[in-house]
Amino acid sequence: MTQFIIHPRIYQMASCEEFAAQVQLGAEDLILTNAYIYEPAFGSMHLPCHVIYLENYGSGEPSDEMVEAIYQDLPASFRRVVAIGGGGVLDVAKILSLKHISPVLDLFDGKTEVIRDKELILVPTTCGTGSEVTNISILALNSRGTKKGLATEALFADSAVLIPALLMGLPFRFFATSAIDALVHAVESSLSPKASAASKLFSYQAIDMILRGFLEIRNQGEEARFPILEQFLLASNYAGIAFGNAGCAAVHALSYPLGAVYHVPHGEANYAMFTGVMNKYLSIRSDGEISHLNDFIANILQCDVSCVYEELENLLNVLIPKKPLFEYGMTEEDLQIFTNSVRENQQRLMANNFVPLSDEDVYMIYRGLYK
Ligand SMILES: NC(=O)c1ccc[n+]([C@@H]2O[C@H](COP(=O)([O-])OP(=O)(O)OC[C@H]3O[C@@H](n4cnc5c(N)ncnc54)[C@H](O)[C@@H]3O)[C@@H](O)[C@H]2O)c1
Ligand SMILES: [Fe+2]
Repeated sequence: MTQFIIHPRIYQMASCEEFAAQVQLGAEDLILTNAYIYEPAFGSMHLPCHVIYLENYGSGEPSDEMVEAIYQDLPASFRRVVAIGGGGVLDVAKILSLKHISPVLDLFDGKTEVIRDKELILVPTTCGTGSEVTNISILALNSRGTKKGLATEALFADSAVLIPALLMGLPFRFFATSAIDALVHAVESSLSPKASAASKLFSYQAIDMILRGFLEIRNQGEEARFPILEQFLLASNYAGIAFGNAGCAAVHALSYPLGAVYHVPHGEANYAMFTGVMNKYLSIRSDGEISHLNDFIANILQCDVSCVYEELENLLNVLIPKKPLFEYGMTEEDLQIFTNSVRENQQRLMANNFVPLSDEDVYMIYRGLYK
């Protein structure tokens, strides 16, 4: 059985100029990005690439409908797909590098074979998803009211390029939500039954780097993130390597309906579910890996292990306030609808839970977080 893989070749570069020169960006490249990221960083280089701005196809996190619309506008031929952006841009780029793109729903339903026929270079500009090193593309499937991940070998990039300077323009809110997403990747992968000794090295290292960075920001203010952006970018990459091997679990599974139906940003939706899921696990089983994890986090937060999730919530609340689910628009009826959606659509993730969670458990987590 495969223990551990890191697929893409990972590079770190000091500047966008260095990146453009190293990979020789040219006329056969399709760049998927956002104008407000690309223009200040690459605009003055006047590259001959075909550039597509994701925001021209809709707002919020990417959907199957957005990918269908981009598909209509693709150039007749291109050799490489280069994505420069947050997880949303990276996930769409993975689909654009495939031989058969449309109908996108057929890819997600397993009706079309996932075959990649373009080279793929991913450059993250948030410190969250780790998508640059995972074989997953996540889209909101609007017609189905949920988000779904397509996970298959063909979606691994050829190269992941880390350029910390690109994160300088990332607004604090997106910095915070993406870094919390990375923390959740690290935590969920550490507890997954698929975790290996190697994947745990990456999980725990990421948790350490992210929490120490958060403490710095709590003590010194938002601006304190700028000198440590590289630490956050590396941590999100490590967390991506960890969950790419061991998987994410219930926090992600429960957050997807909230993200898809009420358009809550991915990291924020994860945060809304995070401590609810952890406390449910603990109520079922408090020994084993979760006990090690709690000691590890308590040691970083310098608190008693009995109040580790309270302390963690206090820290994360400095970055973004945790809201009860009804404040995102969720209704009483949604508690059951979302529970059903998790059962029907998220078994890929629910298989990685620290302990199995029943429909009743899922319902009770939602209910506990509702008000
Ligand atoms: N494939 C995976 O492995 C994986 C894992 C987790 C999440 N995801 C997906 O990734 C998406 C979330 O990604 P994210 O947290 O990176 O956020 P995002 O891609 O949604 O970006 C958040 C916002 O920040 C902007 N932004 C990004 N980088 C910027 C920069 N450097 N300067 C200025 N603005 C910038 C974006 O344009 C967007 O408006 C979700 O769709 C989620 O489902 C994918
Ligand atoms: Fe995530």
